[in-house]
Amino acid sequence: MDEKSTKIIELKNVSKAYDGKLAVKDITLSIKRGEFVTLLGPSGCGKTTTLRMIAGFEMPTSGEIFFDGQNITGVPPHMRRVNTVFQRYALFPHLTVFGNIAFGLKLKSVPSGTRVDKKGNLLQTFRKYTKDEIKAKVDAALKMVDLEDYGYRNVSSLSGGQMQRVAIARALVNEPEVLLLDEPLGRGSRLFFFHLPAAFIARTDFRLKSLIAHC
Ligand SMILES: Nc1ncnc2c1ncn2[C@@H]1O[C@H](COP(=O)(O)OP(=O)(O)OP(=O)(O)O)[C@@H](O)[C@H]1O
Ligand SMILES: [Mg+2]
Repeated sequence: MDEKSTKIIELKNVSKAYDGKLAVKDITLSIKRGEFVTLLGPSGCGKTTTLRMIAGFEMPTSGEIFFDGQNITGVPPHMRRVNTVFQRYALFPHLTVFGNIAFGLKLKSVPSGTRVDKKGNLLQTFRKYTKDEIKAKVDAALKMVDLEDYGYRNVSSLSGGQMQRVAIARALVNEPEVLLLDEPLGRGSRLFFFHLPAAFIARTDFRLKSLIAHC
């Protein structure tokens, strides 16, 4: 494998300023496939901002971000093969565990083939996932986080650690190549988190390439 393709994420001289004040100052960082990276630092030093730039929710003021060797600095979040678990999980309180994890899948369109239009152009066609496909994906994600029998539960009835796992399952169900966890130790179980990378990367049958966390 050449050196370029072993790097899944690269930040080159990335800075971010808010109202002229630097939140992230000139960070250069390479993350290889399969690496588990933790960003450590005092409150306000720019960890969340760095994750948000990798996910595409913030644009760097200067510098460039690469994914698998491609410059993605201007690519919007939904076009990046990166999923984020936010500090406060942002679960939907009115939905069940199943509903939370299925939410994004129900909206998603997946390529279903091609068709030729009147002018003879070849066009990609799209379809929605079927109910059975969604159930299979949600069940697999719940299994990865050891919450197999919790699909029917209301999220507000869960413990902090269980909510965290639902948030992780909701990110994993999209089969991201990179998973970003913002403050995974803020709530929930340290033990779960520390056995998480090896255990759940082993259990994920898709190509999760990197896990980047900050705590
Ligand atoms: N949208 C914003 N507008 C203005 N300033 C911001 C914004 N987002 C972050 N900042 C500032 O940027 C700096 C870095 O914030 P960031 O959230 O990245 O810190 P952090 O390292 O994640 O801290 P913590 O450990 O407390 O979560 C802080 O001074 C913060 O107030
Ligand atoms: Mg933070």
